[in-house]
Amino acid sequence: MQGLGAASRLIACIVTSDAEAHRGSRAMRRGVQEIRDAVAAEFGSVPREHVAGYLAALADQSDRGKPVGMRRAMIDLHPIGMIRSELRRLEDAPRQGGEGAPDAWLEINPALARALSGVRPGDELVLSTWLHLADRDTLEVHPRNDPRAPLTGVFATRSPDRPNPLGLHRVSVREIDGTRLRIGPIEAVDGTPVVDVKIVYGD
Ligand SMILES: C[S@@+](CC[C@H](N)C(=O)[O-])C[C@H]1O[C@@H](n2cnc3c(N)ncnc32)[C@H](O)[C@@H]1O
Repeated sequence: MQGLGAASRLIACIVTSDAEAHRGSRAMRRGVQEIRDAVAAEFGSVPREHVAGYLAALADQSDRGKPVGMRRAMIDLHPIGMIRSELRRLEDAPRQGGEGAPDAWLEINPALARALSGVRPGDELVLSTWLHLADRDTLEVHPRNDPRAPLTGVFATRSPDRPNPLGLHRVSVREIDGTRLRIGPIEAVDGTPVVDVKIVYGD
C-alpha cells in the first residue's frame, strides 16, 4: 500500500497534464509517458493495458466533492457487443422498439461468453447501447423531432442526442446461437455498440 499515496499524487498529475499533453510538445508527451510508466511500476501486478482504468478509478476519488464541471475523470466503458440489424439509416428507425422496430442480432464478444450463462430464449432483457451516431453537444430538442413541440432539455426526453448517448431498450430473446442472440424489437441501427445487458425481473 505504500506506493498508493505516491501513485495517487502521480495520477493527479497525469490527469491534469494528459489533456495539455494531448495538444502539447513532444517533451511533455514524453513526460506523461514517463509518469505512466512509473505508475505501472507502482501497480506492478496490474497489466499495462489496465493502468488507464486504474488511473480513472483513482482519479474519480480525487475528484470527489468538486463541482461536476470541474471533474477530470473519465469512465472506462468497453463495448460488450454489437447490434446487427436490417436498419441501416437513422431515419428508417422508429423512435422506440415497440413502435414497429424489427428484431436484430446481438453479437456478444466471444471472450465474454460466460456472462451469458443463464440467459434463455423467452427472457426479457434491458440492453444499454452506446448510440454512437448521436450528437453529444445537443442539450435541448423538440421531442420526437416534432418542430411544433417546445424545446425541451434532453434529460426530460428519450432523445439519442445528449452528452452521453446511452440508449435503453427492453427486448425479448427469441433465439440463442452461441454468443449471438436474436432479440427484439429494437430500433438501434446496424453497428450500434452495446455496453451492457441486464435481465428484467418479473413485473
Ligand atoms: C429516441 S432513441 C430511443 C433509444 C432508447 N430506446 C431509449 O429510450 O433510450 C431511438 C432513435 O435513436 C436513433 N438511433 C438508433 N441507433 C442509433 C445510433 N447508433 N446512434 C445514434 N442514434 C441512433 C434512431 O433515430 C432512433 O429512432
